[in-house]
Amino acid sequence: MTGAAACPAGRDPGAPGSGTEAAAGLRFTPIAQQTDDVVTVPAGYLHDVVLSWGDPLFSDAPAFDAANQTEAAQLRQFGYNNDHVGLLPLNNQDEQVMVVNHEYTSEPMMFPDYDPENPTEEQVRVAWAAHGLTIVGVTGKHRGPRSGAFDAVVDHRLNRRLHVNTPFELTGPAAGSEYVRTSADPEGRNVLGTLNNCAGGMTPWGTWLTAEENFNQYFANANQVTDPVARERLRRYGLPGEASERRWERFDSRFDLAQEPNEANRFGWIVEVDPFDPTSTPRKRTALGRFKHEAATIRLAADGRAVAYMGDDERFDYLYKFVSRDTYRRNDPAHNATLLDNGTLYVARLTGDSPAAEIDGTGVLPADGEFDGAGEWIPLVTGNVSHVPGMTAEEVLVFTRQAGDAVGATKMDRPEDVEPSPRTGTVYVALTNNTRRTAAQADEANPRGNNKHGHVLELEEAGADAAAGSFAWRVLLLCGDPEDPSTYFAGFDKSQVSAISCPDNLAFDDHGNLWISTDGQPGTLGTNDALYGVAVRGKNRGEVRQFLAVPRGGETCGPVVTDKRVLVAVQHPGEIDGASYENPLSNWPDGGRSIPRPSIVVAYRADGKKVGQA
Ligand code: FEO
Ligand code: CA
Ligand code: CA
Repeated sequence: MTGAAACPAGRDPGAPGSGTEAAAGLRFTPIAQQTDDVVTVPAGYLHDVVLSWGDPLFSDAPAFDAANQTEAAQLRQFGYNNDHVGLLPLNNQDEQVMVVNHEYTSEPMMFPDYDPENPTEEQVRVAWAAHGLTIVGVTGKHRGPRSGAFDAVVDHRLNRRLHVNTPFELTGPAAGSEYVRTSADPEGRNVLGTLNNCAGGMTPWGTWLTAEENFNQYFANANQVTDPVARERLRRYGLPGEASERRWERFDSRFDLAQEPNEANRFGWIVEVDPFDPTSTPRKRTALGRFKHEAATIRLAADGRAVAYMGDDERFDYLYKFVSRDTYRRNDPAHNATLLDNGTLYVARLTGDSPAAEIDGTGVLPADGEFDGAGEWIPLVTGNVSHVPGMTAEEVLVFTRQAGDAVGATKMDRPEDVEPSPRTGTVYVALTNNTRRTAAQADEANPRGNNKHGHVLELEEAGADAAAGSFAWRVLLLCGDPEDPSTYFAGFDKSQVSAISCPDNLAFDDHGNLWISTDGQPGTLGTNDALYGVAVRGKNRGEVRQFLAVPRGGETCGPVVTDKRVLVAVQHPGEIDGASYENPLSNWPDGGRSIPRPSIVVAYRADGKKVGQA
């Protein structure tokens, strides 16, 4: 890894005497940029690994043995590449249920002697079992009331693994349509598996939303589809023309588009899971559209309708929201389970309020002092009624990207998490980067050309109502090294902030601060990916403070921030060019010459006090 000398590793924005006192909840000494193969937390904090790839979730699972991994073992163990993490309360003894996405597998780092041209069937079956979801009980009660540490409960009654061959149900207006029928499922309603589950969100009614993102990579042979309309749809979603990277099509023909051209249309959805019923079949909610879903987070509108905010993580793709037809009812889970099947899907168009000539792609603020403007939510489809000329409702829902193209939605710099603040309803949008945008393509909402560090937008819905048809927006952060003149930290003193690049997942603490985890700092700042707290209100607005860094080559995902603990998912540690099972470039968390294992980490105060309090 290079770049350490150029990175702002020595800056200590939290040094005593550096000025303004940090916002409540962010009162820790920010860590410097890191390059070591360890998890780093602020002075006075401890951390612990909760679960790693291969850890048993059931007592009948064998202990992890990387050299001899099997499908049977993996089906009963924690999966690979943990991403989204959610917590749901179970009782008042610090027992909770933790839900985790396993986004993808990194076969060359998982298997000895892996041949990417010729994977074995058992390796492919391990990968199928290592994808998907984990639901697991966790408890800290044996750790004592002052510790934030907690541990997984083997054989907890709610423990469950869902994977590439678990039954899922398609629901909503596009379920059963001609575009989702296959030879194995002529009704178009029963899908095996979920794929590339990236981030997600927890609903007010106690369920889990998990987002199917880069599903395209698992399918092969789009070039053999001859119908030009079908081919264009496959192209817009990036389906591979020939063999897939993992060659799954050799072992299950549903991954071969030449044989099952509709199977890929059964992925790319928001999936709703009931973690409290281990026998339940999760539902892919077609009313929320199909794209490379990063996440979905819910806010209740003023009248009680459920609003889901969503991003399509692709360069030049779109920002969406869904507004349910019906309203949330407290203590009526059967009714609430129907909310995401009926409603209206919208896509965003953002218009700047400064003259286009003042947006030159450099990040220099326009004369009015802000990158800001107005936005509208353009309706695409309501139930079975399409609002897009030339497309049926089913087509809008299955080929949502083309619907966004047709109505002139605003092309964004890779929308990742889109999350409303539980406290204010202000919506934050992480736009992770877009190096393909040229300066000439800059607009006020995506104001930098070659945007390698990404930015964060703030949206204020009209009338502070999540169901509104319009909104105001402004840029909160233009990320990067604060010494880079193209950066912007909401006007906060740049000498007092941590460098941050490639914002990805978002969370809020109990004080209303925004927390941002990153995906890409090794390639942009030359430092490890990290977790930051950001003040969004008051005199500290724009103050970015680095709380944690993950080991070498890893991505920081899934932050959950409470007064008692901070949880992160360390995804793909050691994923660095040249890494393999035989040549691990991280040895975290087991040390020695071990291969790296994606893991969930918990950080907490050594003295038992609250996170971020003085
Ligand atoms: Fe899986 Fe957009 O990150
Ligand atoms: Ca402006
Ligand atoms: Ca992500």
